Amino acid sequence: MTAAMDHFLYRDGALFAEDVPVAEIAATVGTPFYLYSTATLLRHFRLFDEALDGLPHLVCYAMKAASNQAILKTLAEAGAGMDVVSGGEYARAVAAGVPGERIVFSGVGKTRDEIRTALTGGIRQFNVESEPEMEVISEIATALDMTAPITIRVNPDVDAQTHAKIATGKSENKFGIPISRAREVYALAAALPGIEVIGIDVHIGSQLTQLEPFRQAYAKVAELTEVLRADGHDIRRLDLGGGLGIPYARSNAAPPLPVEYGRMIKDTVGHLGCEIEIEPGRLIAGNAGILVSKVIYLKQGEDRQFLILDAAMNDLIRPAMYDAWHEIVPLREPEPGVEQTPHDIVGPVCETGDTFAKARMMPPLKAGDLVAFRSAGAYGAVMASEYNTRPLVPEVLVRDDKFAVIRARPTFDEIINRDTIPPWL
Ligand code: LLP
Repeated sequence: MTAAMDHFLYRDGALFAEDVPVAEIAATVGTPFYLYSTATLLRHFRLFDEALDGLPHLVCYAMKAASNQAILKTLAEAGAGMDVVSGGEYARAVAAGVPGERIVFSGVGKTRDEIRTALTGGIRQFNVESEPEMEVISEIATALDMTAPITIRVNPDVDAQTHAKIATGKSENKFGIPISRAREVYALAAALPGIEVIGIDVHIGSQLTQLEPFRQAYAKVAELTEVLRADGHDIRRLDLGGGLGIPYARSNAAPPLPVEYGRMIKDTVGHLGCEIEIEPGRLIAGNAGILVSKVIYLKQGEDRQFLILDAAMNDLIRPAMYDAWHEIVPLREPEPGVEQTPHDIVGPVCETGDTFAKARMMPPLKAGDLVAFRSAGAYGAVMASEYNTRPLVPEVLVRDDKFAVIRARPTFDEIINRDTIPPWL
């Protein structure tokens, strides 16, 4: 059993999501669509929760990974907190029934409106990323006659060894305050009215496939905790961020499991007596979702075989944006030993970047056949757009033998009617 274990498996030659044949959902909803498994979401949340057993802790799901209300409600009911990075995400968390004391607010550019809304609506803590932000929170809280609980995000200057676009813990990244300046900034925080410094926050990147960078960062946080305590600060909470990676390709070595990650957390910061928060996103949602798509055409190029799907880069941007590799499987299980041939798998969008995979070995497929992109639950639907006026992909949630559309596909009229014509036209 690995962290990747999910509930999208073949049964009698057909891909199932839990106890529902995926093709049946496709026949009802139409393609493309995102499909999530409740059991997988819960399993992944619990793996983290159990990994921190023995320490006071809260797993705050980084909802930027997948923020549909039904997903949030599923996790919130299991006891998850939420990590939000915008007023919109805060509103989503509240709408899903998450109490303010389980919501942490991260992000480098929190606006005054966002800060005010979170303060008045209830917040567990702000993870502050700069002195100017700290001053603004202090000012707003003071005006409201409130005290804002804050941690300060430190940038530990550790190489997360992940894709450059999702590494956040190096000194050249925009995130956090340099750990070398931490004492000075904590002293400033202690002197400001309206805020109470309760801890330290760190997040070094996403899709980390090794524990070592985490270990380095957390060791620095542990050291800093002692230094700040000696300076008189009551450091009682550590937010250790998210970032644990998932296996996208089964052939690659699997990243460490949550239980190993938890052990490393206990090793590095367990002795400090702090309450621990983590903010995993991808590992909870990634392998809990697939993107289902239909083959529109097979096209023979000069020396390439193109598989043209009805899903495109606007629906799943990760391959175009991060050169991400997603496993693509047919909904009908290929016969054992069937010959696989290389295909360039592309979408209909008018850009060469709309390529999901090059020379991917695939069994024979024909127009009308259905395929699924695996590991698409995180940073899939949330990063989708309506480029080329392609309706935002619908989302569907499965639980046991039931499924429900949790976000409907908009009609063309709905899309067009969001535009308004100025009076002079
Ligand atoms: N906490 C903070 C402060 C973050 O910035 C992030 C992710 C997380 C937690 C959750 O990290 P996770 O556990 O999901 O790795 N769109 C990119 C990933 C961007 C990650 C941004 N920050 C992708 O598709 O790979």
